[in-house]
Amino acid sequence: MGTDWVWLIPLRDLDADARAIQLGAIADMSLLPGQERFVGDPLRMVLAGLAEVSRHPYVVESGGNAAGVLTLQAGAAGLAGWPDDNSAWLLRGFLIDSRHQGKGLGTLAATAAVEAARKLTARHQSCESGVVLSVNEENPAGFSAYSRAGFVDTGRYLGGSAGPQRTMFRSFAGAAPA
Ligand SMILES: CC(C)(COP(=O)(O)OP(=O)(O)OC[C@H]1O[C@@H](n2cnc3c(N)ncnc32)[C@H](O)[C@@H]1OP(=O)(O)O)[C@@H](O)C(=O)NCCC(=O)NCCS
Repeated sequence: MGTDWVWLIPLRDLDADARAIQLGAIADMSLLPGQERFVGDPLRMVLAGLAEVSRHPYVVESGGNAAGVLTLQAGAAGLAGWPDDNSAWLLRGFLIDSRHQGKGLGTLAATAAVEAARKLTARHQSCESGVVLSVNEENPAGFSAYSRAGFVDTGRYLGGSAGPQRTMFRSFAGAAPA
C-alpha cells in the first residue's frame, strides 16, 4: 500500500488562484484503458459540480499530489437507486488517477468522503443519515474499494445507462465525531 492517508480539498472553499492550480492538476489526470465506461472526464465533472449549488467537488490529495477527485451531492440519492433523494448524500464522479491506483487511495478516499459528508450535514443542518453511491457490477476495483471503506451493498439498480449497478450505502453511525 505505502500511503496511509488522504486529504480531501473542498474546491468550493478555495479562492480563485488556489482553485485554478487544482483544476490544472485535475486536467492532467487520466484513467486506465476501459475505465471510461465507469466515470466521466475528471475536469468536466468537477466544472459541472462547481456550476451546481447542490454539488461539492473535492480533490483527493495524497503526499502532496492531486491523486483523484470525487463529488458529494445533496438531494440526488435517487440517482444511485436510493428510495428517496434527501436522506443520503450521493457520492459521484469518483476516481483515482491511473498513476496512483492500486495503493489503497481509493479505499481511503471513500472513507474520507463519508467524513466530509457528515461535516456538510452538520454545517447545513440537513437530514442526511449517510452516503449512497452506485457502482457498475463489472467494476470490481470500485466495489472492493467501497466495501473496504464500510459501504454495504443494498441491492441491484438498473437505472444507469452503463449496465446493472449495485447500490451501496454507508451510514454516519460509527463515523468519527467532529
Ligand atoms: C475504483 C478506484 C477509485 C479504486 O481506486 P484505487 O486507489 O485503485 O483503490 P485501492 O488501491 O484502494 O484498491 C481497492 C481494491 O480494488 C482492487 N483493485 C484495484 N485495481 C483493480 C483492478 N484493476 N481490478 C480488480 N481489482 C482491483 C484492489 O486490489 C483493492 O481490492 P482489495 O482491497 O480486495 O485488495 C479506481 O480503480 C478508479 O479510479 N477507477 C476508475 C473510475 C471508477 O471506476 N470509479 C468508480 C465509479 S463508481
